[in-house]
Amino acid sequence: MTRLIVVSNRVTPPTADATGSQGGLAVAIGEALRENGGVWFGWSGQRVPEFTGQVNLQRAGGVTTATVDLEEQDVDEYYNGYANKTLWPLFHYRIDLTEYDRSFDAGYARVNQRFADTLLPIIQPDDIIWVHDYHLIPLARELRARGVTNRIGFFLHIPWPPMRLLATLPRHKELVSGLFDYDLVGFQTHEWLEAFCDYFQREADAEVGDGVMSAFGRTVRIGAFPIGIDAGAFKEAAKSAEALAARERMRESIAGRQMIVGVDRLDYSKGLEERFLGYERFLADNPERCQEVFLLQIAPPTRSEIGSYQEIRNKLDALSGRINGAYAEVDWVPLRYVNRGYPRAVLAGIYRTARLGLVTPLRDGMNLVAKEYVAAQDPADPGVLVLSQFAGAALQMPEALLVNPFSQEEIAEAIAEGLGMRKAERIRRWEALMHNVESCDVRRWRDDFVAALEAARLPVAMRP
Ligand code: G6P
Repeated sequence: MTRLIVVSNRVTPPTADATGSQGGLAVAIGEALRENGGVWFGWSGQRVPEFTGQVNLQRAGGVTTATVDLEEQDVDEYYNGYANKTLWPLFHYRIDLTEYDRSFDAGYARVNQRFADTLLPIIQPDDIIWVHDYHLIPLARELRARGVTNRIGFFLHIPWPPMRLLATLPRHKELVSGLFDYDLVGFQTHEWLEAFCDYFQREADAEVGDGVMSAFGRTVRIGAFPIGIDAGAFKEAAKSAEALAARERMRESIAGRQMIVGVDRLDYSKGLEERFLGYERFLADNPERCQEVFLLQIAPPTRSEIGSYQEIRNKLDALSGRINGAYAEVDWVPLRYVNRGYPRAVLAGIYRTARLGLVTPLRDGMNLVAKEYVAAQDPADPGVLVLSQFAGAALQMPEALLVNPFSQEEIAEAIAEGLGMRKAERIRRWEALMHNVESCDVRRWRDDFVAALEAARLPVAMRP
């Protein structure tokens, strides 16, 4: 039987108490592997004085995880360095925050080699290997160099940057040409896929055909595979005892007001500063209504060793304090700003209680919070989703109130429109959104990608 080996930097087995601090990747892979077993390989999240290559195998919730510890220098140069100080900001269009250092580059290459060395003994001849995200772009090249001929696919969870931005990265071509060692490369949306094709057409004279691209004497299959959530499970979670308890607790504290909710990792790409300013604009523009409303922003800290993350946290601390200082009354606080994660069932209960879901990233590969918010709603009285036009999810969710997150006015107007929306229109929009959330769920994402990867092998005669 064909086994699926999933490789990602972060490995979070499905039985772990999932909280809002998890990114979309961990949630989606957990759901994808839960059903059909398989092996999930990656970093344990632990640091050790010296890399040993010892693999820790564990079985949890139908999934075998195989993890390795990394040494301090690896974490600094590969995870905090190249992955999150260089690639993450660059791929989210933030060249102003992008740091580059040759030691990051070396650490990134070293960890990818270490992953290849430790993964190699686990691979069986019929396995198909599915590699995830920007931490592991060179992994296929490393595995091929060690003689692996299995099918290997790559899925990028984040945007692919415009060619002129990518060109600012030293040795960019060397990095991304490694994608041609995969059999299939997948993106969240056609927008990122087009940017990817554009880069290779200009930088490497690539030829693009129907779902394939050829360059460097190799041909790789390419496609857009929008990620989804486990809609059924999330709908159920919203009705669970934990969710009901969360709703009860919220209901008491809401005291008849309308709640707006945002849930994001505390990341500069999520547009939290702009969101707070847009909400402040709404408060300023609607003095007669504003005390009937409050914003609950849940933002668990993430990647906190990195300067740009410390800066955004400080900014938000100051901004939330300023907004509350300026607008709060003795019995009302406009902004509840919470720096911790919650179990998903609790989040589901909170989403269901909120009249408006505010999802306004400046740039986002997809954004699963938008889909979770929709899935958690009460069909008879659903809330309204306000969504950034720059999230991959916007392409699939046109019935949301789409906004430009850089515009405080647009955010303020969408809040006012959403809070005032009649029930009939809320239901009409929600039904269309829910149809998409349910039909493009995480199973379809997994099945489509895996089927394309299984079919990806070109006939021997056509292989480079
Ligand atoms: C995003 C990335 C993932 C990452 C997650 C959480 O969703 O695409 O690869 O795992 O953020 O970030 P962290 O650095 O905590 O793994």
